[in-house]
Amino acid sequence: MRHTRWVTTTIDQDHQARTAVSTDLWRTAVVYQIYPRSFADSNGDGIGDLPGITSRVPYLRSLGVDAVWLSPFYPSALADGGYDVDDHRNVDPRLGTLGDFDAMITALHGADIKVIVDIVPNHTSNRHPWFREALTAGRGAPQRDRYLFRNGLGPRGEQPPNDWESMFGGSAWAPAGDGQWYFHCFAAEQPDLNWENDEVREDFRRTVRFWADRGVDGFRIDVAHGLRKDLSEPYLPWDEIADIMRPDGSHPLWDRDDVHEIYADWRRIFDSYDPPRFAVGEASVHPARRARYASADSLGQAFNFAMQDADWRPEDYREVINSGVADMINSTTSWLLGCHDTPRVATRYGLPLEEDRPAQQVARQWLLADGATPRLDRALGERRARAAIMILLALPGSAYIYQGEELGLQEVADLPREVLEDPMASRTTKEKGRDGCRVPLPWSADGPSYGFGQHVGHLPQPEWFAAYAVDVQEADPGSMLNLYRRALALRRELFVSDDLHWVESESSVLHFARPGGVRCITNFGPAPVALPVGEILLSSGQLDQSRLPSDTTVWMRAR
Ligand code: NOJ
Ligand code: CA
Repeated sequence: MRHTRWVTTTIDQDHQARTAVSTDLWRTAVVYQIYPRSFADSNGDGIGDLPGITSRVPYLRSLGVDAVWLSPFYPSALADGGYDVDDHRNVDPRLGTLGDFDAMITALHGADIKVIVDIVPNHTSNRHPWFREALTAGRGAPQRDRYLFRNGLGPRGEQPPNDWESMFGGSAWAPAGDGQWYFHCFAAEQPDLNWENDEVREDFRRTVRFWADRGVDGFRIDVAHGLRKDLSEPYLPWDEIADIMRPDGSHPLWDRDDVHEIYADWRRIFDSYDPPRFAVGEASVHPARRARYASADSLGQAFNFAMQDADWRPEDYREVINSGVADMINSTTSWLLGCHDTPRVATRYGLPLEEDRPAQQVARQWLLADGATPRLDRALGERRARAAIMILLALPGSAYIYQGEELGLQEVADLPREVLEDPMASRTTKEKGRDGCRVPLPWSADGPSYGFGQHVGHLPQPEWFAAYAVDVQEADPGSMLNLYRRALALRRELFVSDDLHWVESESSVLHFARPGGVRCITNFGPAPVALPVGEILLSSGQLDQSRLPSDTTVWMRAR
């Protein structure tokens, strides 16, 4: 069992809340997300790999993160960036071997960095031996029961069983060729598993133990809210269930109550290790349902996507912070500004703020236009991204940083259609997809792939990546990278308990106090504002004669 102690957290001036604080480092850990194929390429084949990660451990150490989370590195045809897994207990030969994995873990642990791997339990790839068997075994065979096969409509079953849509666009059903169809929430190459099947349950227990035994410290659970489904007839029409956020667990596909039985089962496995293995769920659920995934008898932590979804407005941030801090009352909370599924934060914040469309949608529209309209103000976006990360890192709870955010990377909007890898781009004309935030990282200002590898990377990097390269930023004390390093180091020193309370201020200013009288103050308004008298600890931008300029955050100790 994890140890807890109790402290008081003031969420709002009139709202006192009791908060369970685990001495467990995960409660406040800073986790760096690596998208392995785009991080570092050690052998020049254009694909980032595990030895590439090992070679960059000193960089991760100097950044000051507590853990890394690796997106899938398993054998895969890359129909969905590796989230189409052929074998959950192996390494894609293009990314290395299990021996390379062991060497990577040893190097990361040697640098005091923990390792989280991605478990993808909602689906396998269509190349997984189970799925091949299911197709050849035919209708009614037990091999089909591991997946979700149903009879098609029409005399020969030539129509899908219902009108449900995949998350990537198009039908959620694909034909087996014999009148049956199989269900896939995502790409057709990702058939959904049937979590009522015992072999499925047993196989994932094995997978969790396999990686835990190899020294992995924790797991990120892909589509954690999707494993249990009600595919009984009659089916509701798609337009009644297209909105997946329900507050009561009544959706046939998402966030059903019985999904937690699976995690209670895994919890016994996690807790059988010393120290217990950590888990974080990717649960895109109604905010009121998030804490359940983060509770100690379920996964222990859940991604809170609210800040990634928020616009650059003080009222949005205030709301998101209140709701995330409230989650800490009985469980844990986490914060993030981006991941491999979302247009990059510096770009979202550099596009015009719209009243009736969230920044994410504006950014996706901009991507569809290859970045032509609306106009992106890069400097503004980066300035706000600097201010935003300082808010995020000043909050109690855990923080997730997506690779390249620490460089202030912008989304790459003008990737030619023919190089796109994301199935979202091919399954629907309404989205350009997620490749723009998955372009290989620039490590140096020169070289065929800006230091990513000896040759060009699997997605083309634009020329402007040179200015964002790690070696350029290391030499510039005011760079985004150096801001991240300083903020991460200070965070360890300053924010030692969960205490947070709001300090009254004008409406365009976000101002909260943390332990030891440390204040985090952000000016969202256009004109500089006065700061309290005190010592400035860190600032996301130059102060204007001791006033706080627009789109800037400071951490300070008020006198
Ligand atoms: C969520 C992952 O973050 C995303 O990249 C993937 O496409 C889906 N799950 C399906 O596995
Ligand atoms: Ca490689």
